[in-house]
Amino acid sequence: MRIIFFLAPASTKSYNFYIVKRLLIAIALFSLTVNFSFAQQVINLPKPKSSGKVSIEETIKMRRSVRSYYDKGLTDQQISQLLWAAQGITDDSFNFRAAPSAGAIFPLTIYVVRKDGVFKYNPLGHKLTEHLSGDLRPSMLRASLGQTCIKEAPVSFVITANGYKMREKYGGRSYRYICMEVGHAAENLQLQAISLGLSSVPIGSFWDDVIAKTLNIPPDEEPLYIIPVGYQSS
Ligand SMILES: Cc1cc2nc3c(=O)[nH]c(=O)nc-3n(C[C@H](O)[C@H](O)[C@H](O)COP(=O)(O)O)c2cc1C
Repeated sequence: MRIIFFLAPASTKSYNFYIVKRLLIAIALFSLTVNFSFAQQVINLPKPKSSGKVSIEETIKMRRSVRSYYDKGLTDQQISQLLWAAQGITDDSFNFRAAPSAGAIFPLTIYVVRKDGVFKYNPLGHKLTEHLSGDLRPSMLRASLGQTCIKEAPVSFVITANGYKMREKYGGRSYRYICMEVGHAAENLQLQAISLGLSSVPIGSFWDDVIAKTLNIPPDEEPLYIIPVGYQSS
């Protein structure tokens, strides 16, 4: 405050000019911020398929936790399919999703972490919006007690939940429901991975706060599960 006062000119006329100038600078800075957020990359995911070559029984039998992956990325088609299985819209009339949700509240959000950044999944429109840029897998590795599969896997799906949405309706039962719900979504994603010839592991062991900070998760969301997915090595 003192610096502003010190910089402000003495006469009323030049003081008004000074105020207008500062307002113009503020507007310019604001519009820069707005443009910046518009510049976020949006990835319209390819349409997911609703049939596959592996039976549901086979995917259940074949699913195993895999913790070692080749350095080979996933295609947008594969990512599309995995996200659809976890949280995609399967009923256009009510926007119901692939996994059940208590009271159809849908408190879950999925972030896709890969080499080129972190992307937020938007089930409506089946698209990804850039959330952060850069490879954050090494930081996630530290936050998950050194579990190397998180750094090795080309893609990790981080499932968060908004507990406030649930508590409004279910009060003390909300946490129980959220845990059930994240399990439904994770299992769908893992079985879909098997059907695509991919492997995965559900990770629940990590520092919540560090993951939330690393991925810039909004304060009303809590990270619950990390699911690295890739091609099994060895
Ligand atoms: C809630 C939950 C949390 C888990 N957390 C981890 C984890 O942090 N790291 C890990 O390597 N595996 C984790 N797992 C995977 C289990 O270790 C694995 O499911 C178990 O060893 C049985 O093997 P399977 O998945 O191949 O059947 C977790 C599983 C569940 C259900």
